[in-house]
Amino acid sequence: MTGTQPGDPVRVRVPGKINLALCVGPRREDGFHDLATVFQSVSLFDELTATAAPAGVVTVTVEGPGADLVGAPEDNLAVRAARLLGETYAPRRGVDLAIAKGIPVAGGMAGGSADAAAALLACDRLWGLGLPREALLELGAVLGSDVPFTLLGGTAVGHGRGERLTGVRVDHVFHWVLVTSGEGLSTPAVFRRFDRLHPPASVPAPVVPDGLLAALAGGDPVALARTLRNDLAEPALELRPDLAATLAAGEEAGAVGRMVSGSGPTCAFLARDAVHATVLATALRVGLPGRDIHVVTAPASIGFPHAGRG
Ligand code: C5P
Repeated sequence: MTGTQPGDPVRVRVPGKINLALCVGPRREDGFHDLATVFQSVSLFDELTATAAPAGVVTVTVEGPGADLVGAPEDNLAVRAARLLGETYAPRRGVDLAIAKGIPVAGGMAGGSADAAAALLACDRLWGLGLPREALLELGAVLGSDVPFTLLGGTAVGHGRGERLTGVRVDHVFHWVLVTSGEGLSTPAVFRRFDRLHPPASVPAPVVPDGLLAALAGGDPVALARTLRNDLAEPALELRPDLAATLAAGEEAGAVGRMVSGSGPTCAFLARDAVHATVLATALRVGLPGRDIHVVTAPASIGFPHAGRG
């Protein structure tokens, strides 16, 4: 395991997420929206390695698909996470962060948030802080609405702006095919478009769709497909009309469920089982030539991988 000796580099493997439900309430005074959401981690991972650096120094390197789309180091959420942790609990520490991207960048899968979560966990261990999970969750909520969930991984219901979480135990594995998009979508822009489509007075308080948690507990993808819901799909499709063709291709290929992931533009297609996911991916590769297509399982978890493992 990495980080077993004080000062050893620490490696964290952190999954991206999809929202099985993303029910959006009216815009709040603070500009955020109240959500009722069901997060689930999927097996597309970023890997972050944290190595000790001189006091106060925080650096980052990013490699892998879409690394060129990641913003400047000072805007990198992992850097902000390490700085916030340092300022709050370890002002005399520094860290070099190396991020290998596997989660699509700006894909609506919380890749940036996942890196922030990984940085919090890795620096906590590297700097020997041993903070309780609650302390990291609290810092996560300061960094972004999705960071607390990416710290937990697995499956959780989220309320508030997504940071108030209740973990959900799911014993069944679900199989998804994800189709990413070369060009990202801005989350604030998608929420702004939601506001234009739905004047606040017309938007009811959000609730998790009936039957969704029961379908997860029962492990039935067909039942789960009936309850999937994403209120950001409509604004995302207005900003990116080409996503309609992607969703149609999944339907044609025989997906039991289909949705835009989060604020998009990644599209997620639910399969009946592992074999069906492979068949679906093959059909999608034919229907959508040149696109990145990933077969994944859910839920997935965050962790410290063993040295030498993939
Ligand atoms: O919290 P985070 O930094 O990820 O949010 C990015 C943007 O997405 C916010 O500035 C806001 O415009 C929008 N957002 C929102 N309601 C939420 C979460 C995010 O309006 N619950």
